[in-house]
Amino acid sequence: MSSRTPYKVLCVCLGNICRSPTAEVVLRHYCDVHNLNIVVDSAGTSNYHPGKAPDLRSQEHALKRGYDLSGLRARQLKLRDFIEFDLILAMDHDNLSDILALQARARYELGQLCAEVALMSEYDPEYPKQAVPDPYYGGAHGFERVLDQCESSSLAWINVFKMQQKRA
Ligand code: 4NP
Repeated sequence: MSSRTPYKVLCVCLGNICRSPTAEVVLRHYCDVHNLNIVVDSAGTSNYHPGKAPDLRSQEHALKRGYDLSGLRARQLKLRDFIEFDLILAMDHDNLSDILALQARARYELGQLCAEVALMSEYDPEYPKQAVPDPYYGGAHGFERVLDQCESSSLAWINVFKMQQKRA
């Protein structure tokens, strides 16, 4: 964990209306529960839905587990995010390669960067290095699966953040 306080994490998917807003709110919830002073935000690799609230299906499924997504608004990942965040979490492998391509551009245009890039599921024992499947064109099961994975992967990240904090 870097010495910067607070540590800043950005969750990233394609549209920033289903998976990454869910990941943002779930990860923030677990950071709060574990008293970790960490800022969590989200963005999309695409600019398909700028300024839009999360998909209503994501909002409804999340609310059933107590997560309120209603105040979030979509935005596209930008070069400065690689300076402003310490950790960027990709929801799937396509997102990961798009993020890494933008990171190479950011390094060329902005110089030294802060952000490490990893999969949301990087340390998840239940879904190791697996994609969070895109629920957009599917049914209710897909949205529940996003929540299951976001909860499981967030808890795995909490353990990593705590270990990093101890070492710092
Ligand atoms: P997300 O889901 O990447 O989890 O936000 C999607 C949302 C919108 C689209 C694709 C995926 N779309 O094609 O508009």
